[in-house]
Amino acid sequence: MAGLFSFGDSMVEQMTIRRAKNAEHKALMSLMLRAMRHGGSKSYSPELLAAWLVPGNEVFEFYLARNLFVAERQGKITGFGGWRPEIKKKNQARLASIYVEPGEEGKGIGGKILEILIEDMLEAGFVLARLYAMLNAHPFYLAHGFVDVEHTEIPVAKGVKAPVVIMTKLL
Ligand SMILES: CC(C)(COP(=O)(O)OP(=O)(O)OC[C@H]1O[C@@H](n2cnc3c(N)ncnc32)[C@H](O)[C@@H]1OP(=O)(O)O)[C@@H](O)C(=O)NCCC(=O)NCCS
Repeated sequence: MAGLFSFGDSMVEQMTIRRAKNAEHKALMSLMLRAMRHGGSKSYSPELLAAWLVPGNEVFEFYLARNLFVAERQGKITGFGGWRPEIKKKNQARLASIYVEPGEEGKGIGGKILEILIEDMLEAGFVLARLYAMLNAHPFYLAHGFVDVEHTEIPVAKGVKAPVVIMTKLL
């Protein structure tokens, strides 16, 4: 499961993927907001992001629920992701979601976290993963075999909705 992987061009820099510790949840929430603000700015208006990306927004409670994995390099967390069983849907898991530190995107960190999450969902007996993709992350999930179910909007703050894509992948 979690382990060392060669990273980027250099065999010296190595990435570890491991389960998150409870004590790290606050730092992960900050990383999530930074990543969403940075990545989301390509697809959402500043007004929408300002309403959505507020620390303590109850829409985020679910994200830090369980089965969280962090990517770490030289003692620094560079990304994380998580999943949980889907409510009332047998054998289905919800991927919730993957976040990479701004400046660290495009180096394979998100892909490696996704690989570990899929392994963990499979080990736990799940057969299908479902997620709500932010528009900026939609190409990433398409590149990793997720397919579109529905383009929709979700409430992200009082009176504010954000367009997202519901996607699934057979594990
Ligand atoms: C989306 C995100 C998790 C991807 O992680 P990453 O480490 O940048 O992605 P990777 O480098 O592992 O993989 C990128 C792969 O997806 C493809 N891709 C296509 N469009 C992409 C996009 N807009 N963003 C990232 N990857 C994209 C790349 O071509 C690459 O494919 P390859 O591995 O075959 O070369 C990361 O960019 C991020 O945290 N974004 C901001 C927060 C966010 O929106 N999270 C998702 C919420 S649903």
